[in-house]
Amino acid sequence: MESAIKNGVPGVEAECGGACACATCHVYVEEEWRAQTGEPSPMEEDMLDFGYEIKPNSRLSCQIKVREELDGLVVRTPERQT
Ligand code: FES
Repeated sequence: MESAIKNGVPGVEAECGGACACATCHVYVEEEWRAQTGEPSPMEEDMLDFGYEIKPNSRLSCQIKVREELDGLVVRTPERQT
């Protein structure tokens, strides 16, 4: 989420600033990256209920911690945020 905001990526609004309290940083993680990004926490899952067109590969991008193994990570943004 922070990388998207700093680089002006459209479609990531992040209204709560990364506090897992808005779901406007919703992204779809590409299938080949799902294992590396892991599963959402229970708190993230609860907040995802407020996201737009949630899918099995939905994540809140503010909850994905960037680390070396995620170099090249591909995510897509939904048509709109809630
Ligand atoms: S920035 Fe609000 S939930 Fe991610």
